[in-house]
Amino acid sequence: MDRISIRGGAPLKGEIPISGAKNAALPLMAACLLSEEPLTLTNVPKLADVVSMADLLGQLGVSADWRPGRTVGEGGRYVLTAAHLTGTTADYEIVRKMRASFLVAGPLVVRAGHAKVSLPGGCAIGARPVDLHLKALEALGAEVVLEEGYVIVAAPKGLKGARIEFPIVSVGATENTLMAAVLARGETVIENAAREPEIDDLGRCLIAMGAKISGLGTSRIIVQGVTSLHAAEHAVLPDRIETGTYAFAVAIAGGEVELTGTRAELIGAVIPMLEKVGVEIKETNRGLSVHRNGVRPISADANTAPFPGFPTDLQAQFMALMTTADGTSRIRETIFENRFMHVPELLRMGADIRIEGDTAIVTGVERLKGAPVMATDLRASSSLVLAGLAAEGETIINRVYHLDRGFERLEEKLSRVGAQIERQSA
Ligand code: UD1
Repeated sequence: MDRISIRGGAPLKGEIPISGAKNAALPLMAACLLSEEPLTLTNVPKLADVVSMADLLGQLGVSADWRPGRTVGEGGRYVLTAAHLTGTTADYEIVRKMRASFLVAGPLVVRAGHAKVSLPGGCAIGARPVDLHLKALEALGAEVVLEEGYVIVAAPKGLKGARIEFPIVSVGATENTLMAAVLARGETVIENAAREPEIDDLGRCLIAMGAKISGLGTSRIIVQGVTSLHAAEHAVLPDRIETGTYAFAVAIAGGEVELTGTRAELIGAVIPMLEKVGVEIKETNRGLSVHRNGVRPISADANTAPFPGFPTDLQAQFMALMTTADGTSRIRETIFENRFMHVPELLRMGADIRIEGDTAIVTGVERLKGAPVMATDLRASSSLVLAGLAAEGETIINRVYHLDRGFERLEEKLSRVGAQIERQSA
């Protein structure tokens, strides 16, 4: 199994191209199921999760033509054609690996009248049920039964628009409902919809395919169902989590880096945090420039919240930064109940962190110390990379496959700006 070795202490200098967003690419790929005609996606990141989604779509009968990007910054191009579906089942083996596979449920049931999707099962960052996805599909007229670990969703006569109010904000449930609603008869109103930029991106792509949607970017999305969707081309939006992660990398390691191909509004809540910590961040005509001189970062508090709040997917990386900051920081996780898996690993590197319920209290230390650590989930793994950049000596990160799920060419991007980082194949 591959591992990553980092020798900390080197400041970062240069340019990091930001890839297309994983969390936008996955639902966009699922959207191809809604039309018989090709969906062309550009700026697609080459990631293990994207490959898993392509495998799943292949099992359903989608033909995929993939052309990789030629440079680190250039995303790939996927032409996905679901002319004839050959199956409606998403197997346990694939859903177990990647929860976002559940996003095929809505498109499949509205296109084919049937979907059989494995329940995602346990997950490292909490229970993460799919009850909201299922309640919404039921409200649209689908019948839902559970059988041997699978959810069977049936609507042989199609779906019918409805008013759906989510009790809590869910990105995935909003996406599944939106994709089902575009081909449902009549009007669907989604209340308390998620406002993440990835929802907006999905909605824009669906509109390019012929869907009628208004209210994107607000918590009330209105869909007028249409009878069919057509071919379209869409560029995946830049990855805001990758943007934030590399901004924190500069904050922890010091230096000056331009993050190209990204936009400030995607990491709105993160910018004031970086400024509080003592990092200079400004927009450039190609993206964002991030700069921290030799002075130690200053501690700040953070509460995770749905967009436009501070993203849970950056909580672990922010915590890594706070482990070396001057002062004490309180970091509260409000989205997932078990998302502090990185804490024991950071403690092994000499961090001072105490957990009190949903809050981590981090007292900054002068210097972390390199250690062998274990990646536990995708975002936790990237926090260990950041800690390694600032630590004295060598940090070895095991179980790198977690990183490969969501960060395209991470070690290449970081070594190009001066980090001493390499992948070691076992
Ligand atoms: C998406 C992102 C993930 C991010 C998360 C929150 C993708 C592929 N993944 O995950 O990276 O961390 O948003 O920003 O886009 N919940 C329920 N019932 C449901 C669905 C969700 O109780 O049916 C709960 C979850 O357990 C969690 C909260 O709702 O506590 C938010 O989860 P949700 O927004 O649905 O996350 P995902 O879409 O799975």
